[in-house]
This record gives sequence, structure tokens and C-alpha cells, in this order.
Amino acid sequence: MSTQSRRIWLVTGGCGFIGSMFVRMVMAERPDVRIVNLDALTYAGNRANLASIDSDERCRFVHGSICDAAAVDDAIGTGVDAIVNFAAESHVDRSILAPEEFLRTDILGTHVLLEAVRMHRIERYLQVSTDEVYGHVAEGASVEGDAIAPRSPYAASKAGGDLQVLAYRTTYETPVLITRGSNTYGPYQFPEKLIPLFVTNLLDDETVPVYGDGLQIRDWLHVEDHARGILHVLEHGLVGNVYNIGGGNARTNLEITQRLLDLCGREFDSHVRHVLDRPGHDRRYALDAGKAKALGWQPRREFNAGLAQTVAWYREHEAWWRPIKNGSFADYYKLQYAQRGAR
Ligand code: TYD
Repeated sequence: MSTQSRRIWLVTGGCGFIGSMFVRMVMAERPDVRIVNLDALTYAGNRANLASIDSDERCRFVHGSICDAAAVDDAIGTGVDAIVNFAAESHVDRSILAPEEFLRTDILGTHVLLEAVRMHRIERYLQVSTDEVYGHVAEGASVEGDAIAPRSPYAASKAGGDLQVLAYRTTYETPVLITRGSNTYGPYQFPEKLIPLFVTNLLDDETVPVYGDGLQIRDWLHVEDHARGILHVLEHGLVGNVYNIGGGNARTNLEITQRLLDLCGREFDSHVRHVLDRPGHDRRYALDAGKAKALGWQPRREFNAGLAQTVAWYREHEAWWRPIKNGSFADYYKLQYAQRGAR
């Protein structure tokens, strides 16, 4: 890593959920770092996520896609020290409805960035990936050397990105790193995902759609812990390595649902609907994060407190999520959930 006193990082997807947390964190905690934020502002990208650092001249926004090599070159400008790639299509249910955009962004976009790293001789490239590339894990926990076995179009696209990254390491000795995070929750998450969807529905006194029996297991990680893990791997990770960033909070979807009902003051019988399951639904994800911990990272947020803080944030930030839920999301919700039998 460059030891020069000022560093410039290209962050892609910095207006998204985890990306914006990372940008806010770096602005607050790394006074020597400047960021160029390249974001296509697709449906899940929102400049309001960075409103708190709008006036910070160390962060420059560039509107563009990682699939567009010219836009990536422009964003790199006279050079950057590192690229951190958050830009991705990320929602499994959308990938089942329409996979093509996932292949374009998550595989081709990654390829465009890797070529830029190679051509501009950038010192570090960090690919933000997901535990979903390991597929369903019946028992135990995934370690970084496990075979990947993606089972949804989304997971397969992310796996395709990871494989490109690792192939560039082998072929061109590109200085790459990969982080694989577990299910992430916290403020500013687009309300298509389980926790923000359920919280905002419950705040509106609406029902929540639990897929199948609701006994699927996810390992939850607070967005601040996730962003800190990525920052830690970027600064301390060994090039060529993959690091699992797992929250260590395994819960069934029904456990999460019950907690959210309690936090929002709603009853199970009147507010929960079991709806048709997701096709190919992975039953369980579990990450062994020992390697990232050995590198010096630790999740800090206690889960129940993190969840309560998240519900409080959505309660206090209706102005952030209401326009999203009233906008094109309403059409998506109808399309996605009508076929599942939810209202
Ligand atoms: P999600 O937030 O979509 O993340 P992922 O699919 O990447 O794990 O879903 C988390 C879990 O919640 C997953 O098991 C699917 C389930 N789920 C529901 O039961 N109902 C819903 O409406 C959604 C969005 C998810």
C-alpha cells in the first residue's frame, strides 16, 4: 500500500447501502484519504445516503457505470491508489425475475475494473463479495478455501466476478483482495431486503411476507462492522487472499421476524403471512470469519442492540424510505409478491 501522505481511492457503488457506509466511515476516520465515488445511481443507489458528507471536498461524485470503460478511466483520472468495488446488482429475488443485468454488472463490470487496475498499475483492488457464493451450507461454516457452489443467478454472478478476480491474480499478478460478507443490516438499506422491508411494512401496520416455513438461517452482520471489515482488509489484507466477514449472529428468518414484531409493537397472527417460498432458496449460510479476525478485525455491534438501533433509524427516517416505497418500488413489490400470494 502506498505510504504517501495522501491517498486516493476509487470507490464504486458508493451511493449504495454498504458502499455509502464505507465512504462515510473513511471520510470520518481517514483524514488523509480522498475518494472518487463512481456510481451509476440505479434503483438502489441514492445520493441522499451521502448527504451527511456532501460538503466534504475530499469526496468527489462521478455518475457512471463500472461496465463503461471510458467512465472508469475518467474516474481514475491521473491515478488512484486503490479501487474498492461495491457496485453490484444484489437482490436474489430480482435476479430470479431478470438475471441479465446481474451478469452485466457483477461479471462484466468486474472485468472492466480489473482491466483498469492492470492498465493503470493500481496498487490494490478489493472486490466486495458475498457468502452466497458458497451456496447452501448444511452444517459447519464456510472457510475461504471451500469450493464455491452458487445456486441463484445473483450468487452465480458474484461468483463469476470472484473467479475473474482470482484469475487476474494468477495470470497477471494483479494485486487483488476479496471480502465475502454475510447478510448485512442497518441504516440506509434499500427496503427490498428482509429487515428493512419488514420494518417499514410493520411501521405502516402492514403484513410481512415470510417465505416458506421461515426456518432458513442467515448470519447477520451490522453494516458498520461490514464496512470496517472491508477497510481493514483493504489496509492490512494479504494480496491474493479472500477474507470472510461474518457477523456470527445466526438466526432463522422467523426469529428475526419475531424480534421486529416486538420492536414495532405488532402481533404475529395479524401481521405475518407465510407466502410461497423463493425458488432454489438456500436454507442456510454460515461463515467462518477466523481469517479476518486473525488479521485484526472484530465485529463490534451486539445483534439485539444493532437491530433495535436499525428499527429506531427507520422510525426516525421516514423521509428517506417513504419516497422509495411510493416510487417504482411499489410496482416491483406488486410483481414480486403477487405471485407469492401476499397482498
Ligand atoms: P434477503 O434480505 O433477500 O437476503 P438474501 O436472500 O441475500 O439472504 O433475504 C434474507 C432471508 O429472508 C432469505 O432467507 C429470504 C427471506 N425473505 C423472506 O422470507 N421474505 C421476504 O420478503 C424477503 C425479501 C426475504
